[in-house]
Amino acid sequence: MDKLNLVYEGKAKKVYSTEDKSYFIMEFKDDATAFNGQKKGKIRDKGIVNNRISAFLFELLEKNGIKTHFVKLLSEREMLVKAVRILPLEVIVRNIAAGSLAKKLGLNEGEKLQRPVLELCYKNDKLQDPMINNFHAMALGIATQEQLKFIEETSFKINKILQAFFMQKGIILVDFKLEYGTFGDEILLADEISPDTCRLWDAGTGEKLDKDRFRRDLGKVEEAYQEVLKRLIEK
Ligand code: TMP
Repeated sequence: MDKLNLVYEGKAKKVYSTEDKSYFIMEFKDDATAFNGQKKGKIRDKGIVNNRISAFLFELLEKNGIKTHFVKLLSEREMLVKAVRILPLEVIVRNIAAGSLAKKLGLNEGEKLQRPVLELCYKNDKLQDPMINNFHAMALGIATQEQLKFIEETSFKINKILQAFFMQKGIILVDFKLEYGTFGDEILLADEISPDTCRLWDAGTGEKLDKDRFRRDLGKVEEAYQEVLKRLIEK
């Protein structure tokens, strides 16, 4: 299937229409931003690595009964996906305090939370993606109560599946961000799951294997992304 028109360009991906209305082609870029676009850079081959990691994790989730937009890999940087309409929500799940939650609640980064936490943010660059609750999401007409319940339950299920899987690979899943889209009557997991959208710490050393290396100028950014891919695909 060929790319037709660019329908969306985000910070890390481009989405194209195809001759079939039901499918989009998603292309992963090397561009990286942080702090709502204030910090800009490139991570060499990130697009290639994130395309493969996302494909791998979507397949893992599908095998475990989670419906996703993923159809198949097309090339190094491209995957075929179902043409969902993305809900303007960032769904964040956290197992361990880090990043903005550690700051907000005065916790030390690395403190285990007594139960997983789910947060919703309203995807809106102008407003810098403010955190919202279910009532805000319903008031904005983003999703119904039923859809929000499905998203919550699905996100916690995904957390269990990914946490157990990463642990087998010697990686702690600290937190991650999901996006969902509607496809007819269905809600599908969409966007990507990669070191751009997860915090992943080596279980032995605590070393960060994710985008915090870029956000915080920790060095060895490319190596960290490659390491995650290597661990996922090794038997
Ligand atoms: P935070 O601690 O900065 O709120 O980030 C929580 C998780 O969400 C972390 O794994 C990184 C991910 N994330 C994104 O994927 N996109 C974003 O725009 C932000 C702010 C966080």
